[in-house]
Amino acid sequence: TASTPPSYKIIDGKLYRNSSECRHFSARCSGVEHYLLRAAPRMSRNVEFVINVADYPLVPETPLRPAPVMSFSKSDGRHRDVLYPTWSFSQGGPCLHPIYSNGIGDWNGTRQQLLAVAQAHPWSNKTDVAFFRGSRTSQERDAVVLLSLAKPELFDARYTKNQAYKSAADTLNLEPAPYVSLPEHCKYRYLINMRGVAASFRLRHILLCGSAVLHAVDKNSNWREFFYPAMRPWIHYVPLLPNLRDAEDKLLFLRANPDWAKRLAAEGAHFIDKHLRDSDVACYWLRLLRRFSRLLSYDATLRDNMRPV
Ligand SMILES: *[C@@H]1O[C@H](CO)[C@@H](O)[C@H](O)[C@H]1NC(C)=O
Ligand SMILES: *[C@@H]1O[C@H](CO)[C@@H](O)[C@H](O)[C@H]1NC(C)=O
Ligand SMILES: *[C@@H]1O[C@H](CO)[C@@H](O)[C@H](O)[C@H]1NC(C)=O
Repeated sequence: TASTPPSYKIIDGKLYRNSSECRHFSARCSGVEHYLLRAAPRMSRNVEFVINVADYPLVPETPLRPAPVMSFSKSDGRHRDVLYPTWSFSQGGPCLHPIYSNGIGDWNGTRQQLLAVAQAHPWSNKTDVAFFRGSRTSQERDAVVLLSLAKPELFDARYTKNQAYKSAADTLNLEPAPYVSLPEHCKYRYLINMRGVAASFRLRHILLCGSAVLHAVDKNSNWREFFYPAMRPWIHYVPLLPNLRDAEDKLLFLRANPDWAKRLAAEGAHFIDKHLRDSDVACYWLRLLRRFSRLLSYDATLRDNMRPV
């Protein structure tokens, strides 16, 4: 369902939205507006902007002057969207029935929950395999399921059903696995992150587990969210090739160097715990909007169809 992304204005410290455009994704719009409403009174210039609340970015890499659209994720080198912190820091999808029927939002609560579960499952108590559960939102993920079939003693990876599940082909002809909540991931010593439709929402969650995160990144088409560039490979996570050809060697390296692996896991958790708090997300939003407003060469004013939020 192609729909026009919602457009917003902040005029004299108040937030307005073109009300015709949040029908499909009302929870996502609310999730974004939570932060826009906090930033609005602190804006010294009026501003207008377009927020893409769908999963996929909208601005292709072209030599032409790009349209300024904000999206939660993009692939470097392929898209020129301006990145904003996803709606799900507050509320909105992805939704998984029945474990996340209202979406995985509420980062404040989820962070606390993950940190508590991480304490209950210290490194010494985690299962010594690399774990993945997710749906086939990208064929790139096939690599991890296939690896698990070939090396079950090292990898435990299965597809779950997604909302668009049609046939067994969507789970590589295997029985769809039950959903596993994000806190349950913390029981495993190594956790694998792979892109889905866009960057995977799970990354910030699984990093908090205190498990070593193996994160598939390709330097030429890196799917990312706004905070990824602040993280360092081999410090906060272990980078993997998207085809996972290096995954077995790297996992064996981690198993052979448990003190090192444990420290990497702790650094990853510490990074998210200390630098991706709700206040950090709100701060990013405010700076984003202030910088964006300074780029406007005209004064944004109200027109028809804009309603106060
Ligand atoms: C609001 O959205 C409608 C439908 O997409 C569009 O035609 C209209 O120009 C928008 N109005 C403003 C003020 O952006
Ligand atoms: C998170 O908690 C802080 C402090 O209580 C609160 O100000 C903020 O609005 C909360 N964020 C969300 C997304 O609910
Ligand atoms: C370790 O794992 C067991 C079984 O999953 C659990 O009951 C226990 O509370 C865990 N935590 C610690 C600190 O041993």
